[in-house]
Amino acid sequence: MKILAINGSHRKGKNTAALLNLALEEAAALGASTELLELSDYTIKLCLSCNKCLGKPQCSIADDDMAVLGGKLLEADGIILGSPVYWANVSTLMKNFMDRTRYLHMVGNMLAGKVGGAVTNAGLRNGGQEATLRIMEFFLAAQGLHVIDSRNQEGPIMTSGVAGSLMADIKEGKVVWRRSVMEDEGAVMAAKQLGRNMVAAIKSLKKTT
Ligand SMILES: Cc1cc2nc3c(=O)[nH]c(=O)nc-3n(C[C@H](O)[C@H](O)[C@H](O)COP(=O)(O)O)c2cc1C
Repeated sequence: MKILAINGSHRKGKNTAALLNLALEEAAALGASTELLELSDYTIKLCLSCNKCLGKPQCSIADDDMAVLGGKLLEADGIILGSPVYWANVSTLMKNFMDRTRYLHMVGNMLAGKVGGAVTNAGLRNGGQEATLRIMEFFLAAQGLHVIDSRNQEGPIMTSGVAGSLMADIKEGKVVWRRSVMEDEGAVMAAKQLGRNMVAAIKSLKKTT
């Protein structure tokens, strides 16, 4: 079982990467092989909107790294997208990556049947995390993936998706900041649970096919 995490942060190895790594570590502990891709390591040109992918499942742009990333998506059983909130939306890198996967979707839904999940974090509490998660989840669902959330199946619900924040509180009119999203206990808990839920969903789908 292979689970791929894709970080759309323009800052490699920071908060979004930390949440993705937590999910991957949990998945690895349950036997999955895992890989984290930093989109900032890859050259991904802008979609030209040439519409050639409507006729054949291939992108007309061949001189960048998108084919490598597309190959990795096709090989994976599970895909976790991670993006920081940029203006209550995904990052530019993540959006550009999504656009460029159109060739996997238009002729046949080539990622259909895989399992997907999403993680985000923002500076503020209520800083646009829910909107950003929904954008990634909508993308995954449109690509035919089974979208998994971070609900702990036993016990009371405590978080609503993997939605971290650097702002911990406001005390006496001043913002109390966290040094890292790793200090956001709810986000840490939810990221780990997402990793476990991804593995469980992939196993259960493999059993029925
Ligand atoms: C262009 C830009 C837009 C941002 N927009 C928001 C926003 O709408 N709401 C918010 O709370 N934080 C916003 N942030 C803050 C980031 O979400 C925050 O710093 C996050 O922790 C970055 O994740 P990273 O450490 O993985 O890069 C923005 C940051 C940038 C660079």
